[in-house]
Formats: sequence, structure tokens, C-alpha cells
Amino acid sequence: MKNKVQNKGGAQLTINGKTYDLPVLGGSVGPDVIDIRTLYRDAGVFTYDPGFTSTASCESQITYIDGDKGVLLYRGYPIDQLADNASFIETAYLLLHGDLPTHDELETFDWTIRRHTMLHDQFDQFFRGFRRDAHPMAIMVGTVGALSAFYHDSTDINDLQARTISAHRMIAKMPTIAARAYKYSIGQPFITPRNDLDYAANFLRMCFAVPAEDYEVSPTLARAMDKIFILHADHEQNASTSTVRLAGSSGANPFACIASGIASLWGPAHGGANEAALTMLEEIGSVDRIPEFVRRAKDKNDPFRLMGFGHRVYKNYDPRATVMRDTCHAVLDELGVRDEPLLAVAMELERIALEDEYFVEKKLYPNIDFYSGITLRAMGFPTDMFTVLFAVARTVGWIAQWSEMIEDPSQKIGRPRQVFTGAPERAYVKRDQR
Ligand code: CMC
Repeated sequence: MKNKVQNKGGAQLTINGKTYDLPVLGGSVGPDVIDIRTLYRDAGVFTYDPGFTSTASCESQITYIDGDKGVLLYRGYPIDQLADNASFIETAYLLLHGDLPTHDELETFDWTIRRHTMLHDQFDQFFRGFRRDAHPMAIMVGTVGALSAFYHDSTDINDLQARTISAHRMIAKMPTIAARAYKYSIGQPFITPRNDLDYAANFLRMCFAVPAEDYEVSPTLARAMDKIFILHADHEQNASTSTVRLAGSSGANPFACIASGIASLWGPAHGGANEAALTMLEEIGSVDRIPEFVRRAKDKNDPFRLMGFGHRVYKNYDPRATVMRDTCHAVLDELGVRDEPLLAVAMELERIALEDEYFVEKKLYPNIDFYSGITLRAMGFPTDMFTVLFAVARTVGWIAQWSEMIEDPSQKIGRPRQVFTGAPERAYVKRDQR
């Protein structure tokens, strides 16, 4: 990556009467940043920013979000335009390479990904080491980490070709691993990928076909799956992506880095939110119980939150939620389950929350997870698979961000500092004197 950050002026910081000049840098769009790289060296202080709410950790040219305006761009292209017109594979190419592919580039990339879908035969034995009731995300963390043991010919991070092959392998094999995690949990035999099917259709078939009966992939459901993958493909420096970058900054191999991203994504405040949103809708159960849950969400003394509402970055409607809402309706229509009681609860909850002063004032809009949970459930996925599907899609973003970091000349090993409030130095007290 060629650094493009520009000088935008200076800022002054006065500490104990002494003033320090700090450069102000800027990108192509978005807020400027104060460059504090020399602050500790010159002034002997750190900055304090738990949760990194005011800290840019890297320069990036992949994804841009304007949370106040509800804008999400992949390489400059608005997410709704990509979801409506592009395929996931086309979007993956865009995220990895920076520009939309030509017809030939897309064909070659698509063909390459289709030819990497199979797993090493011995890899399948890995799944059998897990208990049948293991959460599929636990299986994902373990097996994706294990890829580095099977494909160690592509783990040299300083070799562009090795990096490219590992990227292709992960994008292609992730649906196969995810489908196997599901099949294993329900005790059904693994379904071999079919490379004549596109990415989403192949994945749905690997999840829902059985050796005794093939699965006819509905074009509407395959398109919905593809859109879900597009919407989840990248989201700049979120927790899991930052985890991948931090893990990768030490020079760790790409498979291990992606496994660390999967671990971070699993949390309910991040990728686990669609599962949590659906569990919450099930717990609410009927429209008449919504006020009780809304009251609990507003109660400061109650830890309950409305899952699927609010976002760290979007303080406006999540642009992915708009696309996901339409996709959700298309899937429910296709499957003829429009009267699904859960959807009625979801729609009413959305209406109340959008009008309620508490949610309006705090700008807590429904996020993508609110609708994706309902859609995936209607498609036949159990709730514990939701985050797995998110991981399949986000793998592309993680790899694009990881590659960008490796190619960034200003990249350093990530090493945050701390404000220490523990015990200062004290002498060891022998056991018999305590
Ligand atoms: N329900 C009720 N109150 C909420 C909610 C909610 N879902 N979200 C935030 N608040 C309140 C919170 O209590 C706080 O109130 P106060 O200012 O009175 O203390 C205020 O809104 C700000 O909350 P915050 O936790 O400081 O905001 P944040 O930006 O740190 O948190 C969030 C963002 C996504 C973690 C949070 O909104 C949340 O927990 N939402 C539910 C979980 C969820 O849906 N997560 C999916 C995120 S989207 C998927 C992804 O991109 O990974």
C-alpha cells in the first residue's frame, strides 16, 4: 500500500505549561487525525482512549463509514449499489484489489475460488474431535486456526504469491468449513462442494442437501444469501478486524490471524448480536409483551439491552439494515412465512423503538443484525449458525485489511500502552510471614 495521508496543519497541546506541536493529518474523506506518534518521546505522556473511540489505528483505503450520515462505502462504492448489482465474489475482488474487476478478471477470480473449495481429506477428522453439541463458532475458531497446519506452503507472509494463495484458500474453503461445522452438529454426513454452483448456492447446498436427497437451491434464497455475504464483507476497523490486524502485526500466519478474528467476532456485542437479537425476539414472544421489554431496556438498573439496536459507529440508520430489511421480506415471501409471529414482534419493536424518546434521543436505530437473524432463521439456519455465516463473509474483509497492513510501509507491531493503577513496587513477603 502506498501511504496517501496528507499534512493538514498543526495542533498544540499544553501540558504543565509546556506546549507541544503536533501535526494534523487527513485522508480523502472523514475527520482529520492528530498525529501523536512522538508524544511519549517528547512529553512523556500517553493518550487514554479505552475502546479506541477517538483513535485511528491505521491508514486504510478499503472501507469508509460515515456513521452520522449512515454511509458505508467499499472502495468508494455505496453498499446498497453493490448489494443490488454485484455478486459476493465481485465484491470480494473489489475489496481485495481496490477496483471492480473487468469481465475477464472476474471470470478468472471466480474460477480460482471455485477450484479451492475442497478440504484436505485429513482435515475432516479434525471435526470429529469436537463434541456434537459444540457451538459451531468454537469449531470455526479451532478448524480455521488448523488450516495453517495443512497449507503451510502458503504461510510466508513476505511472499506476495503465498499471501494470494492463502487468501484464495480461505475465501474458498470457509463455506465448506462452515457447512461441515453445521452438518457435524446435527449428525449428518458432510456434503462435498459442487464447483458448478456459485458461492452462495454451493454453500446453501452443502448445508441443506443430504446424500439421500439433493437440495434444489432457490435462486431467491441464493441471491439473499449472496446479499447477506456482501453486506457483511467488511466494516473497517471493527473489533474483529482490529484483532486480525493486531495479531498479524507480529508476523503471525494469515490462517492464525483469521482464526483470531473469528474469536473476536463471536462476542454478543459484535457478530453474536444477530443470534442474540433472535433469542431476544423469541423471549419476547408476542407483540403485547414488547412494552415490558422496552421498559427494561430503558431502565438504568437493568442490564437488559434491545439486541439488534444501536451501533458504535452508526448514529443514524445502518445502511445495511435498509438492504437487509428488503431482503428479509423477499425471503419471507418466497418461503410463504410472512405471518411468522417473530416477524410481527420484530416489526412492532422496530416501530416502537423508532418513536420512543429514549431510542430517538440516543440514536439507537435497528442494525443489520436485527433483520439478518429473522432472515437466516426463515432460510433454515439454527441461531448458533448466524455468527458463522457472518464469519464466512467477513473473511474477505479481514484478508483485505490484513494484506493492506502487511503492505503498509508505516506498519509496526501493535502495542497499546496503559495507565497503571495497580500496586507500585513492593517487597516480596515470605509465605510463613503472611
Ligand atoms: N438498548 C438499550 N439501550 C442501549 C442500547 C440498546 N441496544 N445500546 C445502547 N444503549 C444505551 C446505553 O445504555 C447508553 O446509555 P447511557 O448514555 O444512558 O449510559 C447509550 O445508549 C450509549 O451506549 P454505549 O454502550 O455507550 O454505546 P456504544 O457505542 O459503546 O455501544 C453497542 C454500541 C452496539 C455495543 C450497543 O448499542 C449495544 O450493546 N447494542 C446491542 C447489541 C447489538 O445489537 N450489537 C450489534 C452491533 S452491529 C454488528 C457489528 O457491526 O458488529
